[in-house]
Amino acid sequence: MFKNQVAIVTGAGRGIGAAAAKLFAELGASVVVNDLNAEPAEAVVAEIKAAGGEAMAYAGDVTDPAFPDALMAKTVEAYGKINILVNNAGYTWDGMLHNMSDKQWQAILDVHATAPFRMIRALAPYMREPAKEEKRAGGPMEPRCIVNVSSTSGLHGNVGQANYATGKLGIVGLTKTVAKEWGAFGIRCNAVAFGFIDTRLTQSKDEGASISVDGEEVALGIPDHIRSMARLVIPLGRPATPEEAAGGIIMLASPYAAYITGHTLEVTGGAGI
Ligand SMILES: NC(=O)c1ccc[n+]([C@@H]2O[C@H](COP(=O)([O-])OP(=O)(O)OC[C@H]3O[C@@H](n4cnc5c(N)ncnc54)[C@H](O)[C@@H]3O)[C@@H](O)[C@H]2O)c1
Repeated sequence: MFKNQVAIVTGAGRGIGAAAAKLFAELGASVVVNDLNAEPAEAVVAEIKAAGGEAMAYAGDVTDPAFPDALMAKTVEAYGKINILVNNAGYTWDGMLHNMSDKQWQAILDVHATAPFRMIRALAPYMREPAKEEKRAGGPMEPRCIVNVSSTSGLHGNVGQANYATGKLGIVGLTKTVAKEWGAFGIRCNAVAFGFIDTRLTQSKDEGASISVDGEEVALGIPDHIRSMARLVIPLGRPATPEEAAGGIIMLASPYAAYITGHTLEVTGGAGI
């Protein structure tokens, strides 16, 4: 399905991003696997290569203002073009609004809204420009699209996530704007809003996972009582696997979504209907 296409997936060292990177590769794409640290990204690349696919790792922090330009340039240097960008990298730093620090607010907006904006801006010379040229020449057009990862926290709000909900709804506005600005060049831009997906982000707090933000360890995971409650409100009765979640991303990037743009697909097992 993605033969001769090049896909970049951010935050693809684990979880949904890793599953999406592996699926894109399995379906024929050359994949650039980004993550904060090289080790998990290299491990995903090794898995893809062992299965006969093509991938390269490019580690780095998506919130570093210089990173998006470097990522795009490296991708084009290695594979010659970019067909698909998935803005997936992210984490949560929860707290009740009245206790939320400016740092906590800004860090989450940086990763979920500012980084995807900069990533798409950095993509323009490698996606918008060649598309414009192809259109002018009147010849065949490469398939090109962007998939942004949102959350039901953004669409509906969530206790303890003022920062995350704002970022994840912001990316819906960004998605619709890019769909309107770049649609003229045949470039589609969609979002996937996930519900409860079983990853490091949503594992039991007791597992003690954390992510380092400017030298501060931010705890990841959710309390067990919330995990068990969530199952009750999901019609399918369970969280999704990362592979099921990645299916939503693949679907929107696929040729079967050729006339779908500006859409936010809820991948929730029916939660919130
Ligand atoms: N798991 C869920 O239930 C759920 C629900 C809704 C939305 N999401 C979103 O899905 C996306 C993927 O999350 P996941 O559940 O797979 O979590 P995960 O923790 O398993 O994977 C996220 C990956 O992003 C990487 N990352 C974080 N900050 C980064 C940065 N600044 N630069 C580069 N990489 C960075 C992490 O190192 C990690 O490998 C996130 O945007 C998350 O907000 C997840």
